[in-house]
Amino acid sequence: MPTAVALDSALVDLQTYGCQMNEYDSELARTILGREGFRFVAPDEATDAAGVVLINTCAIRETAHTKIYARLGDLKVRKRAQKDLVVGLLGCMAQNLKTELLERWPSVDFVCGPDAYRHLPHLIAEARSTNRAQHASIELSEYETYEDIAPTRVEGVNAWIAIMRGCNNFCTFCVVPYTRGRERSRDPLGVVEETRRLAADGHKQVTLLGQNVNSYRHDGRDFADLIEMVADVDGIERVRFTSPHPKDFPLKLLRVIAEHPNVCNTIHLPLQSGNDRILKAMNRGYTQEEFLDLAALMRASIPGLTLTTDIICGFPTETDADYEDTVHVVREAAFESAYIFKYSERQGTTAERKFPDDVPDDVKSRRVTELLAVQREIARAKNVAKIGSVERVLIEGASKKDPGQWRARNDGNFIVVFRDPSCAVGDVRDVRIVEATPNTLIGEPVPA
Ligand code: 5AD
Ligand code: SF4
Repeated sequence: MPTAVALDSALVDLQTYGCQMNEYDSELARTILGREGFRFVAPDEATDAAGVVLINTCAIRETAHTKIYARLGDLKVRKRAQKDLVVGLLGCMAQNLKTELLERWPSVDFVCGPDAYRHLPHLIAEARSTNRAQHASIELSEYETYEDIAPTRVEGVNAWIAIMRGCNNFCTFCVVPYTRGRERSRDPLGVVEETRRLAADGHKQVTLLGQNVNSYRHDGRDFADLIEMVADVDGIERVRFTSPHPKDFPLKLLRVIAEHPNVCNTIHLPLQSGNDRILKAMNRGYTQEEFLDLAALMRASIPGLTLTTDIICGFPTETDADYEDTVHVVREAAFESAYIFKYSERQGTTAERKFPDDVPDDVKSRRVTELLAVQREIARAKNVAKIGSVERVLIEGASKKDPGQWRARNDGNFIVVFRDPSCAVGDVRDVRIVEATPNTLIGEPVPA
């Protein structure tokens, strides 16, 4: 039994799992609660004094759930000693599992979905009221964009900006349309205003976030228009975005990326599978050939392009031959990097209803391991080819391994480590690459 530390009822321990959109949402939650007088445990601080523990959850794969269950196990024990502790689950898993979570975990006071964060102060107050009933705030909205809430950011060179919320694509494997609801775009003027404030606060890079940025629309403006408006804000050295969908990637956007020096030449283009039958079953809306043609067009239009992707191995009915099609695309497209996942059946999705999860786990694992090896070799060769070249990097902070060196990122978002005592965090510098390890480039400063 842990020693019972006295609880500070205004102190919140907010922990975030999942994607950048969740990081951004946690920043919104900080503002919403900060306005009501709540304070926050610092990111690297370990304390049992917080009177409120909020976990912003992810539901994308079962492994995401498993992590949360482990945290809930710890909190259950803590709550035996600290009876007034309030525990709330936010985010995608909360939205997807709703009352099921509350039934299974009596130690959880409330669940709050991604469109309901304005209710957080009320939910905490309810949890402290005399009856202590569990609550669920899980209404999805067609309109909520938190336009009037300025996120409370943790310091750093980069800042996330959600430009839209929700998803209408309904890829059959994906839980996001059910956890984040229908697609809605923010006003571009609000996004530009947010970017201006970020630049004034010293942020050098913004990353625009949306489940499918190609479908961004607001008053006749599309994503290419928006990214141009953001790139024109003074003081913003780099603009990144994630993710576009291969089925409707606009050519206009390629032009904008190629023409704006501060829009990074980096595109994350999720492949998911290289096999036409599987792509159809996934409801992806493109074929292997269309994907490869698009990748080739991107490389031809944007010199020095960094192309990255997401891939799922072991979608229902995927045979070894189907998987080989994915290997083929990985070799052909020669991605600079790839996230490779085992298929994980998600509650409420079309795939769960239509296709039994019939690829054995060991087969999924073998395909992931093999494909990672193929990808690692491609990436290694590309890194080695960079030796001798000059890369423009943005300094993020001190290297973790050697604080005497800077950890910076090149345009392609790869880490470059180098030594130059005359630099500071946020500086942009040219460095010559002198060595390449699988995950890091090592450079030396180029005299100005
Ligand atoms: N199983 C495995 N991976 C998934 N992803 C999304 N849903 C699933 C799932 N059910 C992957 C996709 C997506 C990335 C964010 O997560 O590759 O692009
Ligand atoms: Fe992000 Fe998707 Fe996980 Fe939700 S389920 S946190 S949208 S990755």
